[in-house]
Amino acid sequence: MSIRTLDDLLDEGVSGRRVLVRADLNVPLDKQSGAITDDGRIRAVLPTLTALTGAGAKVVVCSHLGRPKGAPDPQFSLRPVADRLGELLGGSVRFATDTVGDSARSTVDALADGDVALLENLRFNAGETSKDDAERGAFADQLAAFGEAYVDDAFGAVHRKHASVYDVPARLPHVAGRLVLREVEVLSTLTGDPARPYVVVLGGSKVSDKLAVIEALLPKVDRLLIGGGMCFTFLKAQGHEVGTSLLEEEMVETCGNLLARSEGKIMLPVDVVAADAFAPDATHDTVRADGIPSHRLGLDIGPETVAGFAAALKGARTIFWNGPMGVFEMPAFANGTRGVAEAIAKTDAFTVVGGGDSAAAVRALGLDESSFGHISTGGGASLEYLEGKTLPGIAALEK
Ligand code: 3PG
Ligand code: MG
Repeated sequence: MSIRTLDDLLDEGVSGRRVLVRADLNVPLDKQSGAITDDGRIRAVLPTLTALTGAGAKVVVCSHLGRPKGAPDPQFSLRPVADRLGELLGGSVRFATDTVGDSARSTVDALADGDVALLENLRFNAGETSKDDAERGAFADQLAAFGEAYVDDAFGAVHRKHASVYDVPARLPHVAGRLVLREVEVLSTLTGDPARPYVVVLGGSKVSDKLAVIEALLPKVDRLLIGGGMCFTFLKAQGHEVGTSLLEEEMVETCGNLLARSEGKIMLPVDVVAADAFAPDATHDTVRADGIPSHRLGLDIGPETVAGFAAALKGARTIFWNGPMGVFEMPAFANGTRGVAEAIAKTDAFTVVGGGDSAAAVRALGLDESSFGHISTGGGASLEYLEGKTLPGIAALEK
């Protein structure tokens, strides 16, 4: 791929130059307190930021957080992220209370060499996500004015055709940051010629979100293990009753077709943890996957399934995992995700954890991050990469 990298930019020298960095600092926040519950995405961009500050650049960081509707919305302010970023960098981060307004301008103007500023949420501006090229372009002009060079390190957002991702690099000399480079290197080994056996584990709630990636992966993988909320639509397609479990009725036929075409590669749960309500303290039992009682809903895969998945993972040489196996946020329904994650960590395979939720699960369950080959910061982005789609943010860097 013909993408210039951060090292190329550093070789040119950045001392005293303003460098605009698009990061994906879209971290999960606690609904009540607003506190950051997982700072993985902030930590993931540190290597790029410290390389730039160490070389004397004036670093202007921008990001989105959540999905505000094109206007300021305090619950999506990046201020807590600026504080955490400052802690992690061991110095303060100057926070602009708007994205391209007076505060941003004066914050950027005040930067000394080696300083870092964070602009307020990009999505407080309608231009960021606009489908109208001119509207996005006008916003991109304002953003681009803050940098003499642009670094894209927002892997989690490269699948978005947004101003900061797609239009700014058309206006400034542009390079891929360390994180984007590493993510693309790792994921391209999965789409290229992965060491076999290649086993993929997919979970998460919706089949419809994963359909394209299942289609793209099936011819490539040796085994595809399916858990999480989406397994119930597959179980239904096999003719089983799934009680009140999550079900995408309109996807049942599609799942049936996938099963028929899968040459036996798809492995589904044989047992599930079924509860009488979606609640942490709900009454629950392990039941056969083909015998979920009509008033119960499956909230996790069962122990026999974990053992079966672990056996399928054991001799693998490449593993990609995306999506939790159950409602891991509730301890009663976390064993499936924990068991599968531990089984993945134990193998000698090259292991890639894709996606916001599975990456967060690894950390939330207290698993050792270093026992995985790579933990992606991209959810949708890593899936779209594996689907073989053109990612606007990567395409913009290639130009
Ligand atoms: C993500 O969390 O997947 C990325 O930050 C992109 O966010 P989005 O799905 O709101 O565009
Ligand atoms: Mg998303």
